Amino acid sequence: MKTRITDLYGIEHPILSGAMAFVSLPPLVAAVSDGGGLGSLANGILPPEGLRAMIQATRRLTSRPFAVNFITQFATDEHIDVCLDEAVPFVEFFWTHPADTFVERLKDKGVKVAMKVATVADARAAVAAGVDAIIAQSSAAGGHTKGKIGTFALVPAVVDACGDVPVIAAGGVADGRGLVAALALGAEGVVVGTRFLATPEATIHPEYQRRILAGGDEDIVLTSIFGPEWPSQPINCLRNRIVDEYRGRDTETPPQPEPPVSIGTTKLGPETYTMPKFSAILPTPETDGDFEEMCLTAGQCTPLVNDVVPAAEVIRRIVTEAEALLRGRLAV
Ligand SMILES: Cc1cc2nc3c(=O)[nH]c(=O)nc-3n(C[C@H](O)[C@H](O)[C@H](O)COP(=O)(O)O)c2cc1C
Repeated sequence: MKTRITDLYGIEHPILSGAMAFVSLPPLVAAVSDGGGLGSLANGILPPEGLRAMIQATRRLTSRPFAVNFITQFATDEHIDVCLDEAVPFVEFFWTHPADTFVERLKDKGVKVAMKVATVADARAAVAAGVDAIIAQSSAAGGHTKGKIGTFALVPAVVDACGDVPVIAAGGVADGRGLVAALALGAEGVVVGTRFLATPEATIHPEYQRRILAGGDEDIVLTSIFGPEWPSQPINCLRNRIVDEYRGRDTETPPQPEPPVSIGTTKLGPETYTMPKFSAILPTPETDGDFEEMCLTAGQCTPLVNDVVPAAEVIRRIVTEAEALLRGRLAV
């Protein structure tokens, strides 16, 4: 299955793993790239030297290329320096438009830049800035989402707006049906996030993973209650006690209680972090605390995620199913 996206990234299959702050770390990134897709290393809130360590750790696990993903607000000139020093071939930006200087500096050194957008206007702005690919992320996606519309409407609208720039669909793709549908909508590849949370390589707490496997179609809620660390940002989450408590008030960002309340502890790099109430930090194996209070982000494809299998097997299944579907279609 060759598309301009497989050519752009030099990969076998048009499947990119969604960068996932805290959980798509070197083991998952390397496993996706080794599986013939493109792994994406989430910078999240890492400082530049933390990013460098992650890039080097990923390189120790795979010789294949991978991308570095920035939530733009947390990216600095020093982060761009690290990508250039480490000769990272692909960089993605998410949430807000990056500074023109970021894109220029990367492109000057031959780094391919993608921008993840949720609207046609943002896609046009990214094309004007000269990006190499657009990731159209719909309201179905796991993680923080600005998307107001679903994948079926967003992707073709973005494709129509992007001229020659290839588009990758993100949001709701968990199997071969999703890949074929995305290709039919004009995308040339897919970003898969939530499905990769159910892999042994994801750096995810087993209880969070268990809840994803158990999650059904009525269990995902878009809410802004989480995030003293990054306030007032909507995120698709699994329902738990705290999400249910705020149903109907999902756009509110509740104040921190006085005196402060902690919902658990986790590790951020070498530091132990006391998670405040409404913390948006995702539970990793190093997290301890009350899962009924935590931010357990997952996308609307959660009901399609029913087993934990290696990342390479996720890719193999998606490709096998998509190829069978495409052959079936051609035979009709
Ligand atoms: C746990 C989690 C964390 C995420 N963190 C980021 C991030 O740091 N940067 C980013 O661009 N997207 C982030 N995303 C979005 C994914 O990269 C991807 O676009 C999305 O998961 C695709 O939709 P899907 O979950 O329906 O497959 C995150 C998603 C999840 C599930």
